[in-house]
Amino acid sequence: MTYDFSNKTVLITGAAGGIGKECARLFLDDGAQLILVDLEPNALREVADALGAPERITTVAGDLTDQNVLNEVRATVEIAGGLDALVPAAGIYRDRDVESMSIQEWRQTMSINLDSVFQLTQAVLPHLHDHAAIVNFASLAGSRGSRNHAHYAATKAALVAFGRSLALEIGHRGIRVNAVAPGIIRTQMTDTLVTTNGELLLQQTPLGRHGTAQEVATVVTFLCSEAASFVNGELIQVNGGLYMTG
Ligand SMILES: NC(=O)c1ccc[n+]([C@@H]2O[C@H](COP(=O)([O-])OP(=O)(O)OC[C@H]3O[C@@H](n4cnc5c(N)ncnc54)[C@H](O)[C@@H]3O)[C@@H](O)[C@H]2O)c1
Repeated sequence: MTYDFSNKTVLITGAAGGIGKECARLFLDDGAQLILVDLEPNALREVADALGAPERITTVAGDLTDQNVLNEVRATVEIAGGLDALVPAAGIYRDRDVESMSIQEWRQTMSINLDSVFQLTQAVLPHLHDHAAIVNFASLAGSRGSRNHAHYAATKAALVAFGRSLALEIGHRGIRVNAVAPGIIRTQMTDTLVTTNGELLLQQTPLGRHGTAQEVATVVTFLCSEAASFVNGELIQVNGGLYMTG
């Protein structure tokens, strides 16, 4: 499935990660200019090099919880002349049960997964073109809960409510805000989960397999495209049917 993103600028965070990287590849193939952000400078450089088309890629390496990095991202967006799509995919997924979770662990997940999305969105909001699109990253965990990931699950549920509230505020500019909720997608984030729990999760998934990053990225590009011009405030589950059995 291809869409036309020529002359469009797309900002993707977590771009060195499994799903962010695939989103970058699809948007680039469809003609977009990219601003790619990630905490890991070397991995980010490798992704940008592998994508090719350096004239259409700008990178910002840094921690999105750092105000200086947010300022740099905003300045990069300004130089690019604004944004047509915002895809904040950066996130962390740490194991910890509620009983032993420290407030620092709770806050770290809140800070990266939720607060930084709010701050980034606020920073670039004046530079979003009319009819731009935002796609936030929720999760199956946000609706079903996730044992040993209460902090993560809470941020993912909150992102849906945040996005819908934002959609109410900026719909008059033609800007749409949607979310995807991936199930079990094979990336570095789910390595441990798949090792420890993968078989059970496969049994619970009607399609009998885990998803690929590309299968999430195609939904993200769809939501940012003209094909989804009347889809707004929506949450799309991408989980092979795992949700139904939950
Ligand atoms: N993989 C899955 O099965 C799955 C399921 C549900 C939701 N998600 C969501 O999809 C998104 C992408 O996940 P993924 O599987 O590609 O994960 P990933 O771990 O492969 O990639 C996440 C990326 O975010 C970056 N990052 C983390 N903290 C950052 C920070 N403070 N500043 C800047 N960058 C930071 C990491 O360096 C990494 O490159 C995440 O929001 C995740 O919660 C993934």
